[in-house]
Order: sequence, then C-alpha cells, then structure tokens
Amino acid sequence: MPNKILITGASGYLAHRLIPIATGYGEVVGTARKAESVYQPADALSLDLLDADAIKRVVEKVRPTAIIHAAAINPGCGDEMMVGVNHHASATLAEVASRLGIRLVFVSSESGYSGNAAPYSDHAIPDPSNLYGTSKVAGEQAVLSILPESVAVRTSLIYGLDKIDRGTQGFRERLKRGEPLTLFDDVLRQPVWVDSLSHALCRLATEFTDITGTMNVVGDEVMSRAVFGLAMMKHWCIEAGDNVSLVSGAEIKGMQMDLRCSCERAKALGITLPGVSEVLALHHSDTH
Ligand SMILES: NC(=O)c1ccc[n+]([C@@H]2O[C@H](COP(=O)([O-])OP(=O)(O)OC[C@H]3O[C@@H](n4cnc5c(N)ncnc54)[C@H](OP(=O)(O)O)[C@@H]3O)[C@@H](O)[C@H]2O)c1
Repeated sequence: MPNKILITGASGYLAHRLIPIATGYGEVVGTARKAESVYQPADALSLDLLDADAIKRVVEKVRPTAIIHAAAINPGCGDEMMVGVNHHASATLAEVASRLGIRLVFVSSESGYSGNAAPYSDHAIPDPSNLYGTSKVAGEQAVLSILPESVAVRTSLIYGLDKIDRGTQGFRERLKRGEPLTLFDDVLRQPVWVDSLSHALCRLATEFTDITGTMNVVGDEVMSRAVFGLAMMKHWCIEAGDNVSLVSGAEIKGMQMDLRCSCERAKALGITLPGVSEVLALHHSDTH
C-alpha cells in the first residue's frame, strides 16, 4: 500500500522541512488550526486538536497509513491548552490510530528529563521538572499505553539553516532592542538539525514500522547553550557585540542543566544525526 502520511503541527517550525521531506516518502496531508498556514506542498486541512470529535473525523476522512504527530503547545501559551494539545489530543489520536490500524509517530521532547541524571538512554524513565515536560510525558504515556505499537521520539533543540529557529530569533530581537543577552555556558544540549530529524520521523513512519516505545533522536554533538547560541548567531549574521555575556545556569531554579542523550536505537537503524559543527561545515562547503 502506498504511504499516506498525516502530519499534525504542519504550520510549525519542524514542519517547514518535515513537510517537503515527507513528500519523498509518500502522499502528505498536513493539519493546523488554519489550513492556509500549512506548509506546501502538503494537502492542507484545518483541525483544532482541542476538538476530539474533529480529530476523529479528520483521521477517518484522510485514512493515512501513518501519522506524525508534531503539534504541541510551548511554554507560555496557556497551561490548559498545553495539557489539551500535548496530552489529551495525543491520546485521542492514539485511540483513533489504534482503531484504524494506523502507524503513529509521536514527536516528544527531552524536556521530560530533569537534567539530573544524564546521559539519558532511549528507555530512560522521564522525571519532568516543568509543566511543558509533564504534558509531553503524559502525551507519550497515553500514546504508548493506548497504542503500544507506536513510537515516541524524544528530541532536542531543533534548528535549521534556511529558517531561523525561535530561540535564535528571540536573541536577535533582544539585541535589536538593545537589551543584554545572557547565554548559559554550562547547560548541555544536543541540538538536532531539522532535516535529519525529519528524515528520522519519516523513516519511523514508513520504513521502521516495527519500532515501538521511546527513542532519543538528538544531534551527535554535545554543546552548551552558549556555544550553540553563538554558532547560530554567527550563521544568521547576528552581531553579538558587548551585550552578550556567558553565565552559569546553575543558579536558575528548575534549569535542566544536562540533557545529554544516547541514541543507540537510532544508530542501530542507521539513522544519521550529525552534530551542529558537521552540519555547519557541510553547509559552508556547499555554499562556497
Ligand atoms: N522546537 C524545538 O526546539 C523542539 C524541541 C523538542 C521537542 N520539540 C517538539 O517538536 C514538535 C514540533 O515543534 P515545533 O517547534 O515545530 O512546534 P511549533 O513551531 O511551536 O508549532 C506548533 C504546531 O502545533 C500546532 N498547534 C498548536 N495548537 C494546536 C491546536 N489546538 N490544534 C491544532 N494544531 C495546533 C500549531 O499550529 P497552529 O498554531 O497553526 O494551529 C503548529 O503547527 C513538538 O511536538 C515539540 O514539542 C520541539
């Protein structure tokens, strides 16, 4: 049967690359609250994930072979909505996917880890320290208990080199306003290139359909948020200047200091997850 992939969150940052990449794996239908904000070249449908009946209607109408559930509400956008989208809508999608025999790939987050027990394995037990992390973990657990054949992909800071990521855009705006910018030089992450994450999600949706449970999909390179921030600022030609200082994150309450993850499962499948330096070097050699 040819692949037909339904992507939620089809207007989000990840989707700007996931949608075009997914078209290389099959027919693609994208959903967001407004169909017109879905990235091309997907077929676009409006779907409010806070409406459980609408979720069922859309999935029954589209009848995809796989769903990549990438929609989420980020911190700062309302706690009730966060629980509704990140947890309850994920459970509804799993119910309908289970009933119709659809492969489900849930895009989860390293935010389920507190940062006190790195490195985290693919099957590490999450211990979230904030509401966003709690809601993503609740979504994961609901999905995996309703549809144990699904996979929850725990990922890290997503960046691309063709569209500025939210974090770096925030830095640009702060600096433009003349405000000081502090970057944490002891808070560790493994940022993931949006293209490699997108391919991993598509392969899990269409090729590695027997992979179940949780798996980490993060970039190969461990770096501090400061080093990552400065690398992205350089890529986007954002002048750091004297307004940028490097500080420790250790004094910040709830800071997830060390989210290093191992990606044994992804590696065993031959999924490549280049680190930031490698991605930037490749980009540089392609453009010069
Ligand atoms: N970005 C990162 O660095 C990062 C890191 C770790 C994990 N993740 C995970 O990766 C996934 C993609 O992240 P992203 O950065 O692409 O997210 P994003 O840019 O914030 O996009 C969120 C998406 O969710 C959709 N959405 C929100 N509320 C909705 C609702 N009620 N009904 C329907 N759609 C709704 C939005 O669509 P509309 O608002 O247009 O309706 C948008 O398409 C998420 O699951 C996130 O948790 C992201």
